[in-house]
Amino acid sequence: MKTCRVCEHPIEPFMTFGEMPVANAFINENDFQNEYFFELKPASCSKCSTFQIVDVPKPEKMFHDHYAYFASTSKIMTNHFRLLSEEIIKNYLRSIDPFIVEIGSNDGISLQNYSRAGIRHLGVDPSQNVVEESRAKGVSAICTFFNKKSSEKIIDKHGKADIIIATNTMHHIADIKKVVSGAKILLKQKGLMITEDPYLGEMIRLNSYEQIYAEHNFIWSVMSMKYLFNLYDMEIIDVIPNEHHGGCMRYYIGHKNQHRPSNRVEEYLEEEKALGLYDQKTYEKFHHVCKTSKIEILRLLHSIKKKNKNIVGYGATAKSATLINYCGISRDHIDYICDSTVAKQGLFSPGAHIPVISQKDFFNNYPDYTLLFAWNHKKEILKKEKFYTDQGGKWIEYIPKINIL
Ligand code: TYD
Ligand code: ZN
Repeated sequence: MKTCRVCEHPIEPFMTFGEMPVANAFINENDFQNEYFFELKPASCSKCSTFQIVDVPKPEKMFHDHYAYFASTSKIMTNHFRLLSEEIIKNYLRSIDPFIVEIGSNDGISLQNYSRAGIRHLGVDPSQNVVEESRAKGVSAICTFFNKKSSEKIIDKHGKADIIIATNTMHHIADIKKVVSGAKILLKQKGLMITEDPYLGEMIRLNSYEQIYAEHNFIWSVMSMKYLFNLYDMEIIDVIPNEHHGGCMRYYIGHKNQHRPSNRVEEYLEEEKALGLYDQKTYEKFHHVCKTSKIEILRLLHSIKKKNKNIVGYGATAKSATLINYCGISRDHIDYICDSTVAKQGLFSPGAHIPVISQKDFFNNYPDYTLLFAWNHKKEILKKEKFYTDQGGKWIEYIPKINIL
């Protein structure tokens, strides 16, 4: 019997997506035979309402020395973290010589701002290649998993943290209690922990089932975050939604009774209840939506191929691994996926093995149709590729509904 990773209550998956590869594991032709698969089954805990995947691959299968995700490929995300740093520097750094720790600091997209401002900081990330990339930006970072033990080492060397940032990280870590127990000791008494991840409410609203994949061990809600941090005598002080990564929520968290919580926290809890996030029936409906989406997307791709038109994918996102492999999208439908991340180019998408090539090839060889896998960057991409659209190029979007632009 499987149990909830937060409250340890028994959990049952409400559906299965079938055997899935690790979403960001872009693969070399020579490794096709040895590709790792696991069964992707989501569940919503009936006790603490934490949305989670039931069987998770080992972290070593995901966060390693050739991790393919570099956050800085998006200008919008770069700007987003610059704005967050301005907010933090202006409002929350009251001590002399403050210290900021980031869990999952990736390529330094966020910490570079503190480095430039001369603020003491430390990034913690288990993937060596992204740590090196961040160091090249002048960021101090260590390559390790964040937990109580690494927190103790950080405290010994640098002292406690005024701010702990964990953006797009909390949902990646299956052993989440280890992270929170580390943060609990690392955070100063009046310190602030700021986390941000894809938001369950938005996933349910948009039917964006692709948010569920190997690295997304959890899709957090205000209720489940409240439950988790309460276990460590910590509380949510404020929540602010944003549209990034297909709909995220930012959580401001502190030790209990050290800050005055905003009314927004209660308001969101009410809203989540009204949306059905704490009700198992919502997930039965969600399962039905997944099945319908699979039929519709394949029907559309087949009808385009029948007219002898070609289709390529835009953005080799991790998310699309679920869509591609669950729906059975293959090289019969899509010639290739173009992506600006050099580390992904020349490799093949996990599972379906669709080639990933550079964006220059997109420009040099405009396709009839482009499946917008990076739908969360729609504005940025449509602006950048206006010439393609003006030339009659068609975009296929599939979230929240299948639509041709
Ligand atoms: P991302 O938004 O990080 O989603 P996920 O977490 O699901 O991987 O991925 C966006 C991908 O799209 C990334 O590989 C970079 C790529 N991309 C482009 O190729 N061109 C662009 O203009 C943008 C914005 C992204
Ligand atoms: Zn639970």
